[in-house]
Amino acid sequence: FVPPVSGGGGGAQLAGDVDGNPVALESWVKSHKDNDRELVQGLKGEPYYLISTPDNIKDFALLSVCTHLGCVVPWNKAANKFCCPCHGSQYDENGKVVRGPAPLSLALAHTTTLNGNLALSPWTEQDFRTGEDPWWK
Ligand code: FES
Repeated sequence: FVPPVSGGGGGAQLAGDVDGNPVALESWVKSHKDNDRELVQGLKGEPYYLISTPDNIKDFALLSVCTHLGCVVPWNKAANKFCCPCHGSQYDENGKVVRGPAPLSLALAHTTTLNGNLALSPWTEQDFRTGEDPWWK
């Protein structure tokens, strides 16, 4: 597992499956193909996307809540984008907004593990997609 690149240390919380149970990294990786995105219950119980790599997960997760008016944004694999069904906003594969009306990119969290289970921790440093301070802090 690749730990968070920088900062973001404290405050890790276990992610939960649909029933709120812990999710083992190993089983999650086994049950997902490369570049899959699937929701877990993340920080504050909010729905976050985890992103799979060939044999791991990415070191960031994305809050699935559209920054326009808060719809949950589905992943569109064919388009390689998140496409909001409510008013048409689009986000790229890393959650960076590429089409409005959404004003901002999807919020980030760090991914990590606690005793082999997936966990998220707050992302408080610069947004690597925009080079700006996180708007969700
Ligand atoms: Fe997503 Fe309006 S809530 S585009």
